[in-house]
Amino acid sequence: MVKICGIGAGYVGGPTMAVIALKCPEIEVTVVDISHSRIAAWNSDHLPIYEPGLEQVVQQCRNKNLFFSTDVEKHVAEADIIFVSVNTPTKSRGLGAGKAADLTYWEGAARVIAEMSKSNKIVIEKSTVPVRTAEAIERILTHNSNGVSFQILSNPEFLSEGTAIEDLLNPDRVLIGGRQTPEGLLAIQTVKDIYAHWLPEDRIITTNLWSAELAKLADNAFLAQRISSINAMSALCEATGAEVSEVSHALSKNSKLGPRFLNASVGFGGSCFQKDILNLVYISESNGLTEVANYWKQVIQMNDYQKDRFVKRVISSMFNTVSGKKIAILGFAFKKDTSDTRKTPSIDVCKGLMGDDAYLTIYDPRVSEDQIRRDLSLNSTVEWDHPIHLQPTISPSTMKQVRIVKDAYEATKDAHGICILTEWDEFKSLDYQRIFDNMQKPAFVFDGRNILNVGRLREIGFIVYSIGKPL
Ligand code: NAD
Ligand code: UGA
Repeated sequence: MVKICGIGAGYVGGPTMAVIALKCPEIEVTVVDISHSRIAAWNSDHLPIYEPGLEQVVQQCRNKNLFFSTDVEKHVAEADIIFVSVNTPTKSRGLGAGKAADLTYWEGAARVIAEMSKSNKIVIEKSTVPVRTAEAIERILTHNSNGVSFQILSNPEFLSEGTAIEDLLNPDRVLIGGRQTPEGLLAIQTVKDIYAHWLPEDRIITTNLWSAELAKLADNAFLAQRISSINAMSALCEATGAEVSEVSHALSKNSKLGPRFLNASVGFGGSCFQKDILNLVYISESNGLTEVANYWKQVIQMNDYQKDRFVKRVISSMFNTVSGKKIAILGFAFKKDTSDTRKTPSIDVCKGLMGDDAYLTIYDPRVSEDQIRRDLSLNSTVEWDHPIHLQPTISPSTMKQVRIVKDAYEATKDAHGICILTEWDEFKSLDYQRIFDNMQKPAFVFDGRNILNVGRLREIGFIVYSIGKPL
């Protein structure tokens, strides 16, 4: 029986390994992690992450051909193929701090693989890494390997949170990069055969190592760039009377552009877009490509501008101050259908409003109170230069101005204003008449996701601000 070991049981490692186990019953898949609590959760009825459909896949395979364990050494030693899906955050200290990828976790994993391996192995980069990381990993492995041979492949992951299972079962494409040597090509074929259990061959693209590594960074940069582009248009729409949803619709009908990633918003969030673009900026700068670095930097600057603009709009609309006013925050996750809050725009918007002494009542259907409190109490790190509005120091006394509640009606009761910060479906069908009746007047709505019916809200009596729409 072929044995796969997945190192890293996070948002990528958990779902990707579970789907491989589901589709390849003859392969034994073990997911390992240094975090005991995460592994305990994967082995329980309360999985550590929320993804539609994930629970069913795990229930079907767990303890048959899918296992979760903290015994990293044992399972690395036994595996034929190792997928490494550890976190690769932005470096917070030292050379390249604030931009370069921190490969400490990857290096840790590589050293365990080198130390424990007694047989030849295919080692796969599933984490998103800087281009040419495979070269460094190869060096760590071969210099510590006692004659064992390793083939390093890059098989970056393109899933989106909230649709991870769907994306894994039916991806647009799978990308596998490897050395163009006989051994490298054989390793590529072995991994291709795994995906061929459920995907047609023409969806599996093979390239050289560096193209696969760079294609992943480019993919995220292009997606984020589209959001920043439509967000830039949203500011122009507000200034000119154009409507961003109409502009998006017109663009989406151009087959050269396609319909996706054209929703103007309060800004993109998530653990990857900003980190991967900063990574690209750092690689460009390191190669002396200042113009290329500045080009991509602008995508993040526009995203910060959009969050800052939203905060300023709330404050200026509410008679230039929100001090002492109660603002209901609906949605804290970085997008709907996930409990993930990494780099969510809600953190910056909430902090911006807290910086003007607002009282916040926050409701999110999936994010826990502890998580929200942790996110808001952390003060900015060296990563990226946030605009002044978005980085006030949050003291324990300011945190007393935050309440986290269990439903949208409680959040909005007696509020002066509502900010919609995540596009959860349930926010579309709330009883806004009831909400209006229980709010202070004038009652404001700031729709950071453009999900509400502005005409209907105005009929009820709300003063409404939507992104990219006339006031
Ligand atoms: P995550 O933080 O959820 O999970 C990473 C896990 O790796 C953690 O549980 C951590 O404890 C574990 N880990 C770290 N070092 C380890 C080691 N030496 N041995 C064993 N376990 C170790 O991260 P994630 O969101 O799953 O992202 C992982 C990688 O995938 C990142 O490079 C990210 O850029 C990339 N990626 C993420 C997504 C996404 O949607 N989250 C999508 C595509 C690619
Ligand atoms: C993104 C990419 O879409 C995946 O292909 C990639 O694998 C992943 O990053 C990664 O490498 O981590 P994800 O961050 O999970 O996936 O979610 P997206 O759907 O891309 O949304 C990212 C952010 O952009 C969210 O805050 C979302 O609300 C925002 N967004 C998205 C917009 O503001 N407008 C849009 O039109 C689309």
